[in-house]
Amino acid sequence: MVRYGKDISKVVRRNIYMPCLFHIYIGDVLLVYGHQGLKEKQESSRMTIVSSAQRPNGKISVSINKERPMSQSPLYHKYDIQKYDLHPNYSFAHLYDLIPKDTPYYIDSGQHYVERIVRALYYFKQCSLIGPSGTGKTHIVYLVAELCGLPVWEVNCGLSTSAYDLIGRFIGLGKENWIDGMVTRWLREGGIMYLDEANMMKQDVATRLNPVLDTRGHLVLNEKDNECVERHKYGYLILSMNPYSAEFSGTKPLNAAMRRRMAVWINFDYTSVGEQISSVEVELLRKRSKVDEDTAYKIIQCGAELRRQYKAGDVPYGPSLGDLINWATLVQDGNTPNVAAEETIIALTSDNSEVQDDIRRIIETVFPKPQ
Ligand SMILES: Nc1ncnc2c1ncn2[C@@H]1O[C@H](COP(=O)(O)OP(=O)(O)OP(=O)(O)O)[C@@H](O)[C@H]1O
Ligand SMILES: [Mg+2]
Repeated sequence: MVRYGKDISKVVRRNIYMPCLFHIYIGDVLLVYGHQGLKEKQESSRMTIVSSAQRPNGKISVSINKERPMSQSPLYHKYDIQKYDLHPNYSFAHLYDLIPKDTPYYIDSGQHYVERIVRALYYFKQCSLIGPSGTGKTHIVYLVAELCGLPVWEVNCGLSTSAYDLIGRFIGLGKENWIDGMVTRWLREGGIMYLDEANMMKQDVATRLNPVLDTRGHLVLNEKDNECVERHKYGYLILSMNPYSAEFSGTKPLNAAMRRRMAVWINFDYTSVGEQISSVEVELLRKRSKVDEDTAYKIIQCGAELRRQYKAGDVPYGPSLGDLINWATLVQDGNTPNVAAEETIIALTSDNSEVQDDIRRIIETVFPKPQ
């Protein structure tokens, strides 16, 4: 006999964040699955009955496997990532503040970037993202972290990034007060270590990371009596970088040892380029800036042309969706597109007045100036 009752719902509720396999006996009868009061929770915490048995005293015991999704992100079901649980039965709730929230949707034109990154983390624990500035690499790392319920430890690498920043140091006099660097904290606590602009790091600093990047790696703190810090079971690493070239000043070819340790490289590109206009990008710009559809389309059209010319080496910068949203925001505030472009897209692209004239002309082909 199966009975649905209040007592049972209490039991289940109490267990909702507890380990995932549990048994429920209530009085002489048992059982429970599908109680109305649990419906909402069940949508985000699916349960399946894995076994049931009648005991000699006539009671029935049931084992229920509660599958807890990786995160409570509202976008969780928009991406096909449910089969890659990056922290099964492990909660990062104690690092709640480091888990990103409300990250906007990430659009692509069929490249499935989110799924590919989550898959790379699931199988290899780390991956590299490479692409020109403004293609959404940082954005997607935050989104993946939110979708997977993982804290983010972030280092914006540059020439001044030191081994102290990454690994740690003693502060004050003597050897009493050790402070973990970002990488050491991540190794101990887990989550996503995000090394932004990784190819700007000095070689000797990057080399310290090599042992950590072996997928089951560890770090030996030579500075701290050779303490060995093991990589957390759910410690993932993402590198992001602009392709090595003269125009991204400060970039260097990535150290070969580090390159070899990264199994997956994901190339990023703009969604709309040249004649190819992504309707999803237009829609996103319209939603985020509130401009009308026609203006949104034209702004993306200008952006796509600037990106095309940037890729051909004719202008020094290709605008990101974020840059175009800033432009649209000033239009929505009451400026004409040409005036709003002056202090956003035109000034942003270059300080050089000749280049600025070129950009102005490109914009005027889409937004002609009133005569
Ligand atoms: N595909 C996309 N979907 C949604 N937003 C995007 C997308 N691409 C870029 N953006 C937006 O463009 C802006 C720039 O993105 P982001 O900073 O992530 O670029 P990036 O690739 O990390 O650039 P950089 O190499 O300069 O660090 C952000 O506001 C981001 O939200
Ligand atoms: Mg970035």
